[in-house]
Order: sequence, then C-alpha cells, then structure tokens
Amino acid sequence: MQNSAMEKQSAKLHVENLIMIFGKASKKEALSLFRQGASKEEILNRTGHVLGVANASFTVQEGEIFVVMGLSGSGKSTLIRCINRLIEPTSGHVYLDGEDVLAVDEQRLREIRRTRMAMVFQHFALLPHKTVVDNVAYGLKIRGIQPEERRSVALEALDMVGLKSWADRLPENLSGGMKQRVGLARALAMDTDILLMDEAFSALDPLIRREMQNELLELQVQLKKTVLFITHDLNEALRVGNHVAMMRDGKIVQIGSPVEIITQPADDYVAAFMRDVDQSRVLTAEVVMKPADYLVLGRDAFEIAVKRVKAKDDASDFYVVNGQEKVEGFISKQNILRAEKSGKKDLVPFIEREFPTTEPSASLSDLYALVADGVPVAVIDRAGRLMGVVTASDVLASLATVEHVGEDSNGANVAEPADTAANDGEKARNGNGASLEQTATLG
Ligand SMILES: Nc1ncnc2c1ncn2[C@@H]1O[C@H](COP(=O)(O)OP(=O)(O)O)[C@@H](O)[C@H]1O
Ligand SMILES: [Mg+2]
Repeated sequence: MQNSAMEKQSAKLHVENLIMIFGKASKKEALSLFRQGASKEEILNRTGHVLGVANASFTVQEGEIFVVMGLSGSGKSTLIRCINRLIEPTSGHVYLDGEDVLAVDEQRLREIRRTRMAMVFQHFALLPHKTVVDNVAYGLKIRGIQPEERRSVALEALDMVGLKSWADRLPENLSGGMKQRVGLARALAMDTDILLMDEAFSALDPLIRREMQNELLELQVQLKKTVLFITHDLNEALRVGNHVAMMRDGKIVQIGSPVEIITQPADDYVAAFMRDVDQSRVLTAEVVMKPADYLVLGRDAFEIAVKRVKAKDDASDFYVVNGQEKVEGFISKQNILRAEKSGKKDLVPFIEREFPTTEPSASLSDLYALVADGVPVAVIDRAGRLMGVVTASDVLASLATVEHVGEDSNGANVAEPADTAANDGEKARNGNGASLEQTATLG
C-alpha cells in the first residue's frame, strides 16, 4: 500500500474516494446502500438514483497522460466533470497540487478553472461567426487579456497544432479533424498545466484520429502537460496512456501501465476488451519502452555521469543526446570509468556511435532481434529524438501475451477494415515493414 497522505502532497492530481450519485431527492439512502455494497442496478431500482462514479481513487503524476477507459455509460465523463466541478460530486476529494478542489469556495474555483485546467470535448462547438484565431483566443478574452497579446498567444497555439495559416478563416472552412485541432489549440492557449480531454478524438475518422494521437504525443514531448485523457477505445488508450484506468459501472476496476493491462487484466471485463485489440500492433516499441536514462552533452555531462555511475543504486549505462535532444550515441559504465581515468574530463571520445535503434511503431518481432546484444534499444521519433529504451526483459515480459493470443483464436489478429486502413497508413508513413504474420508466429 502506498501512503495516501504523501501522494496527496506530491502528486499533481490525486482523486480519492470520489462518489457521484445522480438524482433530485436526498441521496442519503442511495449512498448508504452503496456503502453496504449494493450494485448500480440495485441502487437504481430501490431509490431511482443513478450511481455515476463509485468510489474512484487514482493518482496522476506531473507530465503524464493518464487515460480513463471504459464502455459508454461507465462513468468517464461524470468522473472528469467532477474534477473541475462541472458536476458537484456527492463525496470525495480531488487534490490538485495538494489543494482539495472540492473544498474551495466559488471564487477560488473560478480561478482554478481559468488558470489550472483546460478542457477539450468530443463535440467542440466553435463560434461560427468568429475567426479561427478569435475562437482560440476566446478563453483569454474572458480572462481579461488584451487583444494584441491574445492574438499572439492564440497564433502560437494554432502553430502548435499546425493550423496557423487558417487563423483568419471562419470555422465553416474547416474539416472535422481541423475543428478538433482548434479545440486543442484553445485549450493549449490557456497555458494550464492540466488538460482534461473527454473523448476528444472519438468522433474522428481512424486515420485522422491516429494523426491526432501522434500529434498529442509529439506535443507532449515539448509541453509535458498533465493530461487526463478519456476514451472508450482501448487501442487509443494503450497508445497514448502512460497509465490506464479501466472503468466499469462507475468503478475503477484496474489501473496499470498499458503492458500491465494487456498482460495481466484484472477481471473478465478488462480481458474482454483485449479480444478486440490487435495485440501485435499494440505491443510496439513505444508501448513496451521505458524512459531512457540519458546524458545531455555539454551540460556537465562528464561530472554527472561519473557521479551517477558511482552512486550505487543508480543507472550505469546511458544514452547521450545533444542540445536538440538528438541521440549521439551510447556510453557504458565501463567507458565512463575509462573517461575518468583518462583525466581529460571528456566523454565524447568514449561514446559508442553504433547502437541499436528502432522506430516507435516497431513490432515485438523486430525488437526481439535487436535486444539480443544486451544494449538497450533506443526508440527514436521522426525528429531523431530519444523517446525511450527497450531492454530484453521488456520484450520477454510482453512476449507471453502474443503467444497466448495465437493459441486463443485465429481471428484475434484480424483487424477490422477501418483499422487495417489506419495500420497501413501508418506503415506507409514510417516505412515499418513488419507484418502481423511475422509477429503472430513468434510463439
Ligand atoms: N445528468 C445525469 N442524470 C442522471 N444520470 C446521469 C447523468 N449524467 C450521466 N448519468 C448516468 O451516469 C452514468 C455514467 O455516465 P457518463 O459519465 O456519461 O458515462 P461515459 O462518459 O463513460 O459514457 C450513466 O449510467 C449515465 O446514464
Ligand atoms: Mg462520456
């Protein structure tokens, strides 16, 4: 058990025992039935009240994408709306940097909503008679920011989502995907550290949706927002989430990393989702990778390397990146010690320039061959930046699942037509030639 009092203090967002019961009359009876262990259905039948969120607790760390995933009606939207109190929860706590949002007065709540959390919805309504840039700047206007500054901040946000050249057009000129980008830009313009995204990509076509997921992940590398991301699509959840909470009938039934959710589903409900997931596609380098231990050249890299190698419980092998986050090479503990012995206080001559790399979409079968040498494989994005590393043990831990799927049914790996199209598009874009067949025969 983790110490909950400590989590409250240190986590960016910590939700504790959150309960939401819908209904007009007193909720006492419903609440007491719930506390006695009654199900959502029983509560509805006996009191007419709807259990929206059932004692949800979870922690979101700064800079992560935390996904809440579940079937329609499982309580995802209710949960996210309780966090900024668009819905007043029946009981519980929502700690934002240690402050209980549910306990603050109206004025403070308004302040928190304006400055701390921005929300993106599925059906984001643009004001039809305002230009794109004015739509993005709207929240800033309400905040009282002057026109010139508003425009410049809004343009910057539009630039981030690739729509700067559309700034002075009207919304009617935009496609659905572009409108959704404007919604994201509007949230980004608010410059809050927390983003609440409720099915923000769910209405988009598969290809555009995947593009938006990529964009969110790329933006996240620079912006490092704390994101609460809601979806009913498990592929999307596993793709964007650092952690995933699985929700059913208002309850969170499991919280884990994508790999944990796939390999150790907590119950039949979670396991049932897995059958719809093409696991060979889901278990890619970017899913199984871990954050890389890296050194940045030119920033006391030598001193930091020596210090960390000598600190007993610390990592000892590092990737070395330059100021632009591009990977220069790999340096082992041995070579760091050699650099120290040389007396020149310079790591550069000791960096190994040949190292295993892979793209984020590489499948388990691609990785299997790469990890054999024992050097962590560098996962590198399209811009040449280090996203993370994959080690042999990460790959082995994930392999069991793929074997299992192979035994389970022949149909499990056959994607739906729409998904196949998305998959092919992705392959064409990044040149990943690994086929599903290859992965499926691993076992
Ligand atoms: N305003 C409301 N009044 C009564 N019941 C509601 C209300 N909003 C949502 N619910 C119920 O709460 C449950 C959770 O709904 P919701 O949070 O919208 O689920 P999701 O976003 O996962 O689809 C559902 O049973 C839904 O019918
Ligand atoms: Mg919803």
